Amino acid sequence: MPGRDRSWIRVALLLCGALSIPYCLAESESMSSPGTGLGTGTDPHTLLADFRRPAAMPVIKSNPTTPEKVALGQMLFFDPRLSGSGVISCATCHNPALGWTDALPKGLGHMGGRLRRHTPTILNVAYGEPYFWDGRAATLEDQAKGPLTSAAEMNMPAEVAVKRILSIPGYVTAFAYAFPAKPVSVDTIAAAIASYERTVVSNSAPFDKWVAGDEGAISPAAQRGFSLFNGKANCAVCHSGWRMTDDGFHDIGISGSDRGRAEVAPGIVQLEYAFKTPTLRNINQRAPYMHDGSLATLPAVIDHYDNGFASRPSLDTQMHRLGLTPAQKADLLAFLDTLTSVDSPAIIPQLPQ
Ligand code: HEC
Ligand code: HEC
Repeated sequence: MPGRDRSWIRVALLLCGALSIPYCLAESESMSSPGTGLGTGTDPHTLLADFRRPAAMPVIKSNPTTPEKVALGQMLFFDPRLSGSGVISCATCHNPALGWTDALPKGLGHMGGRLRRHTPTILNVAYGEPYFWDGRAATLEDQAKGPLTSAAEMNMPAEVAVKRILSIPGYVTAFAYAFPAKPVSVDTIAAAIASYERTVVSNSAPFDKWVAGDEGAISPAAQRGFSLFNGKANCAVCHSGWRMTDDGFHDIGISGSDRGRAEVAPGIVQLEYAFKTPTLRNINQRAPYMHDGSLATLPAVIDHYDNGFASRPSLDTQMHRLGLTPAQKADLLAFLDTLTSVDSPAIIPQLPQ
């Protein structure tokens, strides 16, 4: 296939043409050794294909998306009347203007209480399961019930939520359209919100245009950064696929007492302090970073991987000191910047009365 041939040439050029010979050798060596991040094998032909976006959205058989559910879910997502205090909506923490998060190390919940973990983005959540930093919710429908009823977050008991919805005629009509045969319940509330969340998808980024064959879509520095991402910096071993995540759990050596996945699946040493690999799509829009919001900037994240992580028995075996030069760190950063797309502004709906 011509496309494949071009991809191969681009990777070969990337690795060997634009770079000095000793670096080129070091890089190709690390790329051909097993487990360095090529994902589906060691053949560079497959490298760019691994990062290509799927053409279609996943289909959810148990809760098929309809325009009526999406419209309802969008209202619920932005509606503070769904919280015990009447002042917090999902969008308070998952704010579309802040990359669908809150720009805080740890979010503020009911009555301003500080939450235990950093608010993750909901961008592209349609594609990856399970949910939460520790993966304790299997589906988006399950997930949505968590913050709604959690005393620390929206503090809204299910019965109170249903009663409040039934007191707003505009909602009664919208629920009747979205779920013709079902009563208003915490399940239909969650199903509508999940349907809306599945529409929050990033557009094509400069990196996607480059993957599709537009040579000039990203800078030479970013192209070198992509090569480092898959090679010496060893990022793609966990940040794989078009969303740049394996949807797996790893301890990457962030200090702290939060045991992460081990709270959900105890007894496995590798899951101690392990958290879900986040997507890197639009990553430069949502500092600070990590489950505890402890790294303020992307250069701080790169320094962490280079030489800043805690050693302990659960540390992922793919974590090792990288020895990146300042120029390589800059290239990696240039690559991460190409993952941000220009997305249509989120629509803030008029809420029913
Ligand atoms: C007070 C802040 C706050 C509010 C309000 C809030 N969230 Fe969250 N959200 C968080 C935090 C913090 C996490 C991570 C918690 C964890 O992993 O333990 C999270 C996790 C999530 C995730 C998981 C993302 C992933 O990749 O795993 C989704 C989806 C989500 N929230 C949707 C919602 C929806 C829908 C609502 C409204 C019903 C909502 N959130 C309300 C702070 C909030
Ligand atoms: C062993 C698997 C693994 C490797 C290797 C890895 N990551 Fe990560 N990455 C993760 C996990 C897991 C997290 C979340 C960890 C946490 O919050 O404790 C994460 C978090 C991040 C974040 C923060 C995302 C956010 O939304 O907060 C960025 C940025 C990032 N990684 C970039 C990189 C880069 C760049 C590299 C290569 C230098 C890399 N990662 C290597 C697994 C990995």
